[in-house]
Amino acid sequence: MASILKVQDLTKTYKSGSKNLTVLKNVNFEIEKGTSFSIVGPSGSGKTTLLGLCAGLDRASSGKVVLNGHALETLNEDQRAAVRNQNVGFVFQNFQLLPTLTALENVMVPMELRKEKNIRARSLELLDRVGLADRHDHYPTQLSGGEQQRISIARAFSNQPEILFADEPTGNLDEETSEKVEELLFSLNKEAGTTLILVTHDLELANKTNRIIRIKGGQVVFDSELANTETSI
Ligand SMILES: Nc1ncnc2c1ncn2[C@@H]1O[C@H](COP(=O)(O)OP(=O)(O)O)[C@@H](O)[C@H]1O
Ligand SMILES: [Mg+2]
Repeated sequence: MASILKVQDLTKTYKSGSKNLTVLKNVNFEIEKGTSFSIVGPSGSGKTTLLGLCAGLDRASSGKVVLNGHALETLNEDQRAAVRNQNVGFVFQNFQLLPTLTALENVMVPMELRKEKNIRARSLELLDRVGLADRHDHYPTQLSGGEQQRISIARAFSNQPEILFADEPTGNLDEETSEKVEELLFSLNKEAGTTLILVTHDLELANKTNRIIRIKGGQVVFDSELANTETSI
């Protein structure tokens, strides 16, 4: 199998003062290129931490992450930023749009970092794809949560990522907007062959992906690809 993400014995311990908090313990999985994958689990179980480590936003305490052939633990901060810019789209739980930039400018940022051509025209196309071309000159505060989420998806796709991570992409949205965002993620995933990795509370959404893992207390307690897991989804 052509693997795009390999996670091996991944452990993350946060240190605060004299206390250590281990939030991920020996997590293992491997994801095939072009597939979709979801991570479910209770609040505080380590889902966002796991996504951040897989995307190279943060460093593991021990274990390995191999992202599209790059062994992340061997890279420094700048090298990881370069790997992210070349390979990764990330839709944050709280969008993380830059407040001083318009919708269009937010989408343009990853392309500018890559010093690409036709940035403006291509960003407008992406905004059109998410149904927001007419809002291109609006600032994040002038947009609803659902609209900000769609801008953040357009931005995540603007470097044509091999792999897209989305942290609870429908978590803050009403049902109708959720459906639109879901359709968008899956159609962009199919059209561009992008591997999709979602964190979600929505089991209906999770069931639409090729594979589901459940995390509890920082450990994988269910993997739809394995038979010998403790609990059912
Ligand atoms: N930077 C941090 N420093 C210390 N503890 C953290 C940090 N980030 C997350 N945590 C803790 O790690 C645990 C897992 O958090 P998180 O990965 O955000 O879980 P989830 O996304 O599943 O809700 C929580 O107990 C949280 O408080
Ligand atoms: Mg989270």
